[in-house]
Amino acid sequence: MNQSGKLYGIGVGPGDPELLTLKAVRIINEADVVFTAASAKRNYSLALEIARPHLSPTVITKFLSFTMTQDKDATEAAWDGNAEQIAKVLRGGQNAAFLTLGDPMTYSTFGYILKSLKKVMPEAEIETIPGITSFHAAAARLNRTLVEAEESLLITSGAYGGDQLLKVGESVENIVMMKAYKNITQNNAALKKTGFYSNSVAITRCGREGEEIIEDLDELEKRTPDYWTLVLAGK
Ligand SMILES: C[S@@+](CC[C@H](N)C(=O)[O-])C[C@H]1O[C@@H](n2cnc3c(N)ncnc32)[C@H](O)[C@@H]1O
Repeated sequence: MNQSGKLYGIGVGPGDPELLTLKAVRIINEADVVFTAASAKRNYSLALEIARPHLSPTVITKFLSFTMTQDKDATEAAWDGNAEQIAKVLRGGQNAAFLTLGDPMTYSTFGYILKSLKKVMPEAEIETIPGITSFHAAAARLNRTLVEAEESLLITSGAYGGDQLLKVGESVENIVMMKAYKNITQNNAALKKTGFYSNSVAITRCGREGEEIIEDLDELEKRTPDYWTLVLAGK
């Protein structure tokens, strides 16, 4: 019987192709099939484009449809289907890589793949190759320390208007707010209430074409929301 292949979850970093690790580049090139998530509407993956300069022209790439609905069961079923496609490759004895933006363990579609693959192929061998997160890239871009000495750092999401920040913001000195592209008025109110607003900065498309640094977060309320936005703030 064929020995099954292995799945590598690979973080391709925040955008600059020079920010892939040497290990990520080696494994992408050794993989038989490179998977990546793409929206159901169009076959485009930013993670794949970031890795593209390192890919051999003959590599087999496959898009997995990225469905995010409010219906949890439908989303889970879609990811189980995606995991089944990966499992098919692994059962055939081939190695697969799943590319993901930034780091695979940080607000990433790889989390869905991990859960679903454990269901559809519990024996699958999986190795995760970490990537540079968007907020590490942002801190570097701004020459801004994320955390020092005995301070703490909260990594949270702004998707629901800073509700998590309001719960725990009092007890930390620094925050990263990812997904800072909607409910901006509420996010700003939460930053003000918890004492972070006056030492905050937003960055959009860090390290990519169209990068912008926004020092005045009220300005974000007047702009067209950009999904690729995060906020760094401290007390
Ligand atoms: C689903 S999360 C992906 C996070 C990714 N796994 C990471 O490690 O950075 C998407 C959010 O990451 C942030 N993000 C990713 N790339 C970014 C970039 N180049 N500039 C600013 N924010 C970015 C934005 O807040 C965006 O809404």
